[in-house]
Amino acid sequence: MPAITCIEDLRVLYQRRVPKMFYEYAETGSWTEQTFRENTSDFHDIYFRQRVAVDMSNRTTKSRMIGQDVAMPVALAPVGLLGMQNADGEIKAARAAEKFGVPFTLSTMSICSIEDVAEHTTKPFWFQVYTLTDTDFMQRLFDRARAAACSAIVITLDLQIGGQRHRDIKNGLSAPPKLTAKSIANMMTKVQWGLGMLGTKRRFFGNIIGHAKGVSDPSSLTSWTEEAFDASLNWDRIKEFKKMWGGKVILKGILDVEDAKMAVKAGADAIIVSNHGGRQLDGALSSIRALAEILDAVGDKIEVHIDSGIRSGQDVLKAIAMGAKGAYIGRAYVYGLGAMGEAGVTRALEVIHKELDYSMAFCGHRRLEDVGPDILRIPKGFAGDWETPKPTKPTPKARSTKKA
Ligand code: GLV
Repeated sequence: MPAITCIEDLRVLYQRRVPKMFYEYAETGSWTEQTFRENTSDFHDIYFRQRVAVDMSNRTTKSRMIGQDVAMPVALAPVGLLGMQNADGEIKAARAAEKFGVPFTLSTMSICSIEDVAEHTTKPFWFQVYTLTDTDFMQRLFDRARAAACSAIVITLDLQIGGQRHRDIKNGLSAPPKLTAKSIANMMTKVQWGLGMLGTKRRFFGNIIGHAKGVSDPSSLTSWTEEAFDASLNWDRIKEFKKMWGGKVILKGILDVEDAKMAVKAGADAIIVSNHGGRQLDGALSSIRALAEILDAVGDKIEVHIDSGIRSGQDVLKAIAMGAKGAYIGRAYVYGLGAMGEAGVTRALEVIHKELDYSMAFCGHRRLEDVGPDILRIPKGFAGDWETPKPTKPTPKARSTKKA
């Protein structure tokens, strides 16, 4: 096998080894995929300032996210269906993250359950929840996360309704995959993947099956989204979730300054500037473009993290230099998982760590905490100089039922 030197090598191998349905689940965005594309391409508009003849010895990328020590300020984002990318995928990803010293976030839409992941790891991980109408089920998720010693909850705010990805519909995405002539023909070419799947019992949504009531097709992500997700969410409900959980809360899916301010008022410990990897509102700003304005507005009041579009250590460094306290990788580690299981996730983390460490050094720094926006060349107008029409209707924040 050729040497794996970058995340793209893992993606190529991943595409070869995993059934088309699951590769395309990860590697797509909604509708025209404009936001999905710009999440990565916008990072390339920002440049570094190289410095020379500075001391580059004794470097460290050690950092802290929500008060927890991390080997680098990079977390594994919650991604659904990891256990379909590679048998027992959530356990493998969590173990790789734990060994590396970075947080792993388990998705509610995982194949391995919270209990399963806790049993196969030794350190606390983070747990992601969607905003669902069934309060009892939400409470049970929080209770299960507490029993599993999860050290933070990540609440996804940008998925009250599901964005449309054409290929998921065309592929009939489900877990386990529906057996059609086409899917069987494709799966037969993925020998390693198939052997892994035959060797595990974990092939269903482990946090849902047997726990959530009234789901008509529990193998379908789309029907669960349509039936269980709270289309009428508001900020009071988010505060209620925070109380129900009672621990650290990270709010994911913030792309607007007004929402960032509401997140501060709601008492969150951190926010993730995110457009859900370009999977929800197509035509929204890329996360890296939205970051500066949000940092300006709330960066001194709350920890600001970012996801969407991060495929390299250089991307991480750009976000951290702008002022983010953490960056999440999603696809970058999913490629590794699909390509090589736990070893692939570890490889993805090693690649990103080396790129981050070396890039920091080339910019003249030895510690991430010393890095600031002065190492960057950001084009004028990068964050946007937008026309802001005066609202004629109440803005979304007025939707809250009580005064915040
Ligand atoms: C779920 O969160 C998805 O993006 O598919």
